[in-house]
Amino acid sequence: MNKLCIEGDKNLSGSVTISGAKNAALPILFMSILTEGKIQIKNVPKNLTDINIALKLLVYVGVKITYKKILFIDPSSINVFCAPYHLIKKIRASIWMLAPLLARFGKAKIFLPGGCKIGSRPIDLHLNGLIKLGAKINFKNDCIIASVQGRLKGKYILMEKISVGATITIMSAATLAQGITIIDNAACEPEIVDIAKFLNTLGANIIGAGSKKIYIKGVIKLTGGTHQIIPDRIETGTFLVAAAISKGCIICHNTEPKHLTNVLLKLIDAGAKIQIGKNWIKLDMRDKRPKALNIRTAPYPGFPTDLQAQFALLNTISLGIGTITETVFENRFIYISELINMGAKIILKNNTIISYGTPKLLSSNVFCSDLRASATLVLAGCIALGVTIVNKTYHLIRGYESFPKKLNKLGADIKIL
Ligand code: UD1
Repeated sequence: MNKLCIEGDKNLSGSVTISGAKNAALPILFMSILTEGKIQIKNVPKNLTDINIALKLLVYVGVKITYKKILFIDPSSINVFCAPYHLIKKIRASIWMLAPLLARFGKAKIFLPGGCKIGSRPIDLHLNGLIKLGAKINFKNDCIIASVQGRLKGKYILMEKISVGATITIMSAATLAQGITIIDNAACEPEIVDIAKFLNTLGANIIGAGSKKIYIKGVIKLTGGTHQIIPDRIETGTFLVAAAISKGCIICHNTEPKHLTNVLLKLIDAGAKIQIGKNWIKLDMRDKRPKALNIRTAPYPGFPTDLQAQFALLNTISLGIGTITETVFENRFIYISELINMGAKIILKNNTIISYGTPKLLSSNVFCSDLRASATLVLAGCIALGVTIVNKTYHLIRGYESFPKKLNKLGADIKIL
């Protein structure tokens, strides 16, 4: 899927079923390396490039995978401790192979990971954490070589910056370490809680995930188990924005409203009527143009950086002037030139964009730069006047399951070229 042709000026309404969270599924797949036991994982999002690459990486190191409705993982015969460059380079998440291989086998060798170009995305916090737990880390030709004599050793680790990825790396390494690890200033994202729940199901001893301090008492060995991935809060937020910018009314099923508190409050500020149930969210924006919002992204429970672009689109067609400040990544506004091509009035000042709301966007030929920007440009195409061509949409299938199909069901007119 490289190019989409979108007939615009549509109202996006109806119901959509939210998939499992990519950002929980990816690390959980790699965490399976920590055990010999057989694992079953439910609600893994299907046909996503990032998930498929993760599965290929696991198969490469010797994990047996069967994927029907449920994903069956048998990590008992891992016999390779390095991973190939062409796969590692494709996903940032491949960094999460390092700690489980190291913790279980005492050695690992992986190339520096790739991923969305939304900033410099260093991995120093991951590596420093492993070093504190006793790992030796060397570099050779773009390759990280990690080793430890015996088991890793539990430690108090104060994270100098909140990092989702590094919290996951340290939590997974500490699971099999000797003694107690405390991760202070840990990331609190729901995906971290889900990973801890998964590891505890396998016999790990983790408490405090979801708070700033995570305590991990290392165990010698993990077992097998079954886990269900949490719903994708970013996919949910993206569909809520789809309805909010198109005077639509939408129900997102199979989701977790508690994971979107700050996002829902912003949508209410924009004028949306929100109703929630145990696992659904309804947004009603019929006959209403949103009011412009002021947003500052922040680690969870703050406003997610992964919804920054979608809400920037909302501001472009809103009543009034809105601002969005990006505090997590330093280069996450590449997409605004494409929205400006579609008639958006946006000014970039340092890490803030100021949007002057305009009632309608116009169709254009636009190019995607990363995953969330792709979803944003597709939504922009759905509401713009005329036919928009969105190029480089291969980013989209890295993280959104059947996005054009789900939008078409809501009333969009998207063709894959
Ligand atoms: C994860 C998510 C991504 C989301 C981000 C923040 C996945 C696959 N990706 O990315 O969708 O946008 O969390 O919610 O789950 N940093 C360092 N050194 C490090 C690691 C990170 O300086 O070793 C910096 C980053 O450059 C960034 C900030 O810390 O400025 C936060 O990054 P982090 O939370 O680690 O994001 P990811 O885990 O890469």
